[in-house]
Amino acid sequence: MKIDLCGIQLAGPVLNGSGTFDAIAARRAFGDALLERFPFHAFVSKTITLAPREGNPPPRLWETPAGLINSIGLPNKGLEGFFAHDLPELAELPVPLIVSVMGFSRDELGTLVQRAGERDEVALIELNVSCPNVETGLVMGADPAETARAVEHVRPLTDRPLIVKLTPNATDPAAVASAAEQAGADAVSLINTLKGMALDPRTRQPWLGGTTGGVSGPAVRAIALEQVGSVAAAVGIPVIGMGGIASGRHASDFMSAGAACVAIGTENFRDPAAGLRIAAELGERVGV
Ligand code: SIN
Repeated sequence: MKIDLCGIQLAGPVLNGSGTFDAIAARRAFGDALLERFPFHAFVSKTITLAPREGNPPPRLWETPAGLINSIGLPNKGLEGFFAHDLPELAELPVPLIVSVMGFSRDELGTLVQRAGERDEVALIELNVSCPNVETGLVMGADPAETARAVEHVRPLTDRPLIVKLTPNATDPAAVASAAEQAGADAVSLINTLKGMALDPRTRQPWLGGTTGGVSGPAVRAIALEQVGSVAAAVGIPVIGMGGIASGRHASDFMSAGAACVAIGTENFRDPAAGLRIAAELGERVGV
């Protein structure tokens, strides 16, 4: 089931959601066996920012019925740290690399896109304008005009295909997707997490160090499927669908709703080999 994603050839349609699979840690744990049986057909990095970030204070996770709330806050080594430490290891993966970036301003986003696009190891760039745990990201991606301004600003700075990661926390995700397409995006991916909160049962105060977080997992799948369907109907560029996918049947549902590719997120935490299983199940369903 070969896929052409914005001119990049993939051996299949199964990706990881950004930040849900640490390929460097997995390589340490599983050695070269990871490369021989890599669970995804393209790998999406954890989102990087220009400056290093510590991320949000703990606790950062809370389990909900059929889901997870995270308030991670984009901890990362920053662009230079990513280039120095992570990129050489990610370049050894046997699949195309998609680097996810998030800027606190259009200029920051522009620098990230330009510098990432200069690296041969980077096949595509994902603009994360949808992180619910960093205010600026979500504000940019919740509004069609703001999203368009961000994409228009970065579009001339690279020839790498640009994927815009959409938030479900927008009044009209299809309008944001259309604005991104008109501004020059080559693909959109959705959904990022839905804003949520949990209370500490003892103190009745917010459990998460960041107060609120983003809900993912099977609990959000029906919402994600609807949004993928409405976005796919509104745009002509490829849609990467995600949100609670845990089986080949779920993946096939997202593709029937209009997704060209699917991404596995929360399920990777339960089963690091989920991508392999889901790709095999999907292959059986579509007869390849
Ligand atoms: C996080 O690091 O807070 C999650 C990333 C995201 O939701 O985009």
